[in-house]
Amino acid sequence: MSEHMPTGVVGLDELISGGFPRGRVILVLGGPGTGKTIFASQFLYKGISRHGENGIFVSLDEGKNHFCSEMLKFGWDFKKAEEEGKFLFVDATRLSRVAMLKEKMMKEETSSLRGKELQIDRLVEELQEKIQQIGAKRVVLDTLASLFYRFSDPIERRTAGVDLIEALSDINVTTIVTTELSYLGLERNLMDEEFLVHGVIMMQTLFSGGTTTRALQVEKMRGTNVNPNLVPYTIDKNGIEVFPAMSVFREK
Ligand SMILES: Nc1ncnc2c1ncn2[C@@H]1O[C@H](COP(=O)(O)OP(=O)(O)OP(=O)(O)O)[C@@H](O)[C@H]1O
Ligand SMILES: [Mg+2]
Repeated sequence: MSEHMPTGVVGLDELISGGFPRGRVILVLGGPGTGKTIFASQFLYKGISRHGENGIFVSLDEGKNHFCSEMLKFGWDFKKAEEEGKFLFVDATRLSRVAMLKEKMMKEETSSLRGKELQIDRLVEELQEKIQQIGAKRVVLDTLASLFYRFSDPIERRTAGVDLIEALSDINVTTIVTTELSYLGLERNLMDEEFLVHGVIMMQTLFSGGTTTRALQVEKMRGTNVNPNLVPYTIDKNGIEVFPAMSVFREK
């Protein structure tokens, strides 16, 4: 077996020597609507359908029915994959902001740091069980940004993100974690998470001369030769396609 795992995202493997390094955690960063959820789902679905690699989607954002019906629009039938024992959905929306607000109204105690840590530990345990259950090789966590709303204190937030990424690194599967970009003026804030993970892929929407262009960049991929150029990508009914030989900057 190659040490690189084909990503399932058309054109992307050419930027990263054939795929993601196996068993590692890759962070997919991007603003709202850049296609992070589609990217991660494509990675899972193509793994199942083309490579016989089972997958798990851990959602902090949306429930299973919504996820499955959205992805069916691309022809990715996750319900069927689940029935065939190739896919599992872990609903972790209880860790999201809405769940937190509800808890706050109920009682203060569960929103204490200890309570939240326990919930993350439990999530990791549940994930490990499910990985065993279907022999999963690919995992997606969408999205770390939802955790950030839960942990308003920056130190708590950092601890939670770091704990979760470390736990995922210890599990022997290839994992995509999505998160949102944070900006500070014109400079992008580097997040702690970026130092912890093996790979970082950035997705963004550029506005220029009245047109918008979607652009992707491999910011890092440890142990892998990468093409670090900012290259265009598209989203259509088949999902995401990256154009590794093109430049987003118009040549004169
Ligand atoms: N069939 C399609 N053709 C073209 N674009 C599409 C299609 N389906 C979805 N999109 C685009 O995909 C984007 C949404 O993708 P996705 O939900 O993966 O983004 P995201 O980065 O996860 O967003 P969020 O931050 O809201 O979670 C939207 O910009 C939408 O316009
Ligand atoms: Mg999303």
